[in-house]
Amino acid sequence: MKEQLEAIRKAALESIAATAEESELEALRVKYLGKKGELTAVLKQMGKLSPEERPVMGQMANDVRAALEQAMEARSAVLAEKAMEARLEAETLDVTIPGKKPALGHKHPMYTVLDEIKEIFINMGFEIMEGPEIEQEDYNFTKLNTPADHPAREWSDTFYLTEDSRVLLRTQTSPMQIRAMETCGVPIRMISPGRVYRKDEVDATHSPMFHQIEGLVVDKGVTMADLKGTLNAVIREIYGPDTVTRFRPHHFPFTEPSCEMDIQCHKCGGKGCPTCKGEGWIEVLGAGMVHPKVLRNCGVDPDVYSGFAFGFGLERLAMGQFKISDLRLIFENDQRFLEQF
Ligand code: DAH
Repeated sequence: MKEQLEAIRKAALESIAATAEESELEALRVKYLGKKGELTAVLKQMGKLSPEERPVMGQMANDVRAALEQAMEARSAVLAEKAMEARLEAETLDVTIPGKKPALGHKHPMYTVLDEIKEIFINMGFEIMEGPEIEQEDYNFTKLNTPADHPAREWSDTFYLTEDSRVLLRTQTSPMQIRAMETCGVPIRMISPGRVYRKDEVDATHSPMFHQIEGLVVDKGVTMADLKGTLNAVIREIYGPDTVTRFRPHHFPFTEPSCEMDIQCHKCGGKGCPTCKGEGWIEVLGAGMVHPKVLRNCGVDPDVYSGFAFGFGLERLAMGQFKISDLRLIFENDQRFLEQF
């Protein structure tokens, strides 16, 4: 039995020293010290020994067990260290390699223009108000003095959401004139930017969704001179101090008198070129003195108060400012386009 124990000790120690991985060590643990292991098997023969031999052999078996356990523990520590070294080797980090620059987004060109415009109006004492894109027919048309047979009310022109034509996607930001006066009363000075919707086919200058900025000023003694002075000041902030403007008579149901404002073509100086389609002038907005009926529809007495309103398209402004030739580019969100601004 003594020889058996010695043989086990020798073979086990050699095997332990030769292990390369923790799993091999675990296998040896089972092989020698496990319930069905070799050392255990020897101990089971103790019963056959004489009473004198038993404690001696018992002591020896315990020594062998202790020696193997110790050797395994020591080997395990060595293997762990080796594994760590191998990992560090594999994961070397070169801190001198230049970092990767994260791609940062930026403001959409149209919102750059919108923020500029908001700033101009805020500096003139205007408030910014936003309103619903899903609007009532009443606000989009009726309270704005739009006759029942006006072509803009046609189903072919407007996105109606209900069969009875009561609810629609707003076709203009003008309903915000009504909402502003109803909620805030007068005097008032506000602009309202936002999306509007029309049943237009997509092409280089049309989209079924686009943006407008509405403006409204109502107070005692407001005249057409205020309209012209204010809009000239705004346009010169946007297009430069030497910009030449003109006001042409026009018709809108909610203003009387109504006009359109043109700027002299900044490309050709008024001679006529492709940018202004040979006209020498570029139309920038619609405006007018708020119709007395509109004021009355909002509970404002037109004999005491008067005001002016205006509305313009944001995309067209951005296209002019950034020399963008096709409206579709603004909405396609192609990074190659957007990265230029
Ligand atoms: N709502 C008009 C449109 O979509 C633009 C407009 C014209 C707004 C004259 C106004 C205005 O406030 O006074 O064509």
